[in-house]
Amino acid sequence: MAEIYRASTTAPVNIAVIKYWGKRDPKLNLPTNSSLSVTLSQSDLRTHTTASCSPSYPSSDSLLLNGSPQDVSGARTQACFRELRSLRKQLEDADSSLPKLSTFPLKIVSENNFPTAAGLASSAAGFAALVRAIANLYELPSSPTELSRIARQGSGSACRSLFGGYVRWEQGSTVDGSDSVAFQVAPAEHWPGMRAVILVVSAAKKGVSSTTGMQTTVATSSLFTARANETVPRRMKEMQDAIKNKDFETFGKTTMMDSNSFHATCLDTYPPIFYLNDVSRAAIKVVEQINKRAGKIIAAYTFDAGPNAVVYYEEQNEKEVAGLFKAMLGENEGWKGVRGDGVQANGESLEEV
Ligand code: DP6
Repeated sequence: MAEIYRASTTAPVNIAVIKYWGKRDPKLNLPTNSSLSVTLSQSDLRTHTTASCSPSYPSSDSLLLNGSPQDVSGARTQACFRELRSLRKQLEDADSSLPKLSTFPLKIVSENNFPTAAGLASSAAGFAALVRAIANLYELPSSPTELSRIARQGSGSACRSLFGGYVRWEQGSTVDGSDSVAFQVAPAEHWPGMRAVILVVSAAKKGVSSTTGMQTTVATSSLFTARANETVPRRMKEMQDAIKNKDFETFGKTTMMDSNSFHATCLDTYPPIFYLNDVSRAAIKVVEQINKRAGKIIAAYTFDAGPNAVVYYEEQNEKEVAGLFKAMLGENEGWKGVRGDGVQANGESLEEV
């Protein structure tokens, strides 16, 4: 029987505190601004992926997500497969004793430990895990930053899920996107008290996909130009300094202002895009009250392309922030406590079964 080669990995979800919104090249997912995110704990939100390949597999590549077959013919998945195969081929060309894995069909099996449709950045963890699992399978010597160039082509935000802690995605300036990659700004241990809670307002799939929303924003919003060219570059610097100094007040204020700026840009898009709903706005008010009562910023909300809130806070304020939200909504009404952590890899060596 022909051998089966296999490797597994997990990748976490990341939530941006300076958002990616706008593509200068939609095919390569090259962004119009740099962005910065915090990687969440894998015990709460992560994708586990096993990549295998074998000459005995049926001729086409396949992907199973939470037990359902997925279409792999899309340009984004194809770009990831193609790039990874070409890196493997370079190794095979340099060492003829290596098995020709680049020529075998791939079978990818992925499981999320959270609802895929809940709008919780599932594509970020999904593509990061897919790229990392295949890179492990192919025994590529590539660094996470090199792999981030490939994961970005699957989904822009996925390039940041190759790292734990605090991660910057550099917008880059080249046409081929070789410098549009992610770097770790600081590991999770740098600021071990950082915490986040997620308020799942709705488990429904997003109304307007990020890709479509971004394209319409770039084409129609005048606020967008100021955001991409002036506001974000300034805030990227402020945010990195805040992280370096573990300055929660600046971190929190900048996080909330960037979320507001992103959603204002969505409203300024024509036709307008609404991601926040009444419950989202109620969550903003609660955070404002928490901060007012504390006399300083101890909680910071942020919203992606959907109504669910992510609220960052520090461990010492657990009671005032997460405790209050949990007491208001009850432990079982869609709340999850999460914190920063790193990508864990396992099964990195090739197995023959
Ligand atoms: C609002 O990475 O999902 O979450 O590149 O089209 O796959 P594509 O978009 P995606 O967009 C994420 C947008 C965001 C902000 C962010 O994560 O930075």
